[in-house]
Amino acid sequence: MTRGRIAGTGSYLPARVLTNAELEARIDTSDIWIRERTGIAQRHIAAADETCSDLAEHAARAAIEAAGLNASDIDLIIVATSTPDQVFPSTACRLLERLGIPGGIPAFDLAAACSGFVYALDTANRFIRTGGASRALVIGAEVFSRILDWDDRGTCVLFGDGAGAVVLEATEAEGPSGAGILSTHLHADGRQEPLLNVPWGVGQGYEALADRRGCVTMRGNEVFRVAVRTLGNLVDETLAANGLERGDVDWLVPHQANIRIMAATARKLGLPMERMVSTVAEHGNTSAASIPLALDRAVRDGRIQRGELLLLEAFGAGFTWGSALVRY
Ligand code: ACO
Repeated sequence: MTRGRIAGTGSYLPARVLTNAELEARIDTSDIWIRERTGIAQRHIAAADETCSDLAEHAARAAIEAAGLNASDIDLIIVATSTPDQVFPSTACRLLERLGIPGGIPAFDLAAACSGFVYALDTANRFIRTGGASRALVIGAEVFSRILDWDDRGTCVLFGDGAGAVVLEATEAEGPSGAGILSTHLHADGRQEPLLNVPWGVGQGYEALADRRGCVTMRGNEVFRVAVRTLGNLVDETLAANGLERGDVDWLVPHQANIRIMAATARKLGLPMERMVSTVAEHGNTSAASIPLALDRAVRDGRIQRGELLLLEAFGAGFTWGSALVRY
């Protein structure tokens, strides 16, 4: 059976680091509150002239190199983002030009907020399984610092900027021991949109862009409860679909929203904390970029080894949520 396997990973973080201590000096918050409630100590912030496609390009180049390929080998690009450079062309189309990839291959952006990378991975895998692509570049890239209300302590302390990428390559593999994506599980529910949104988009026109309507709003406490419950059910669904038991997964690579949500999912999986890849302390929540950033970190520092079983999962605005079980 043809399916996608992760051939290479890459990531990029802007140079500027914003610490909790700096936020303490700007708004009514404290390092201890942020650390205890979220696990976040710092986040990276894009420079004024750095955009989503800049971050994505660095991550993409690193992933292509790690896969031992050239940019011209890529035959599909999907960029998961909620913070694209411009309305159109898409960030993915801009990357074609920047990476020097000849025209003709499919390239598009995908928006599923913090679940965007898992959605993009699923989509690329479907292209590969049906013969529509053989070497897909799947990227999560965000500049959330541009859509934050820096006076809202309930949201601005949580997010950061960054990008992560994987090259998903077609491979012939069978069953759960073979390399590649074993299963993906995507869901969405629009009924609780007011709990987490950016209540403005270009379709509303620029006269509607007032009172910080272009910024993230979140009822964090309510989102937290839904996220923990939903991710617990998602773990059950993913394990059951693959005939696995608690403890069978080698690594949890979760969306990095909050260390308490991540730890709850690890407990549900029966995994010790050291088997959960956590970058939330250094990166904060980088939305669609957080999973590929964490994955690349653990691959490059040698924790994640070929043949190991990874569970990637995310929950975000929409609500959207999803998982991917991957034999690395
Ligand atoms: N510093 C100090 N105090 C704060 C801060 C802050 N930065 N932010 C809020 N507070 C205060 C609140 O005002 C409140 O004060 P009050 O009791 O006087 O009213 C108190 O702290 C408790 O606030 P809660 O919201 O109940 O705090 P909670 O423990 O829930 O933590 C948090 C808030 C960190 C946002 C948490 O709820 C969370 O992580 N939620 C989930 C986020 C998430 O997963 N989002 C989905 C992905 S994001 C995406 O898709 C774009």
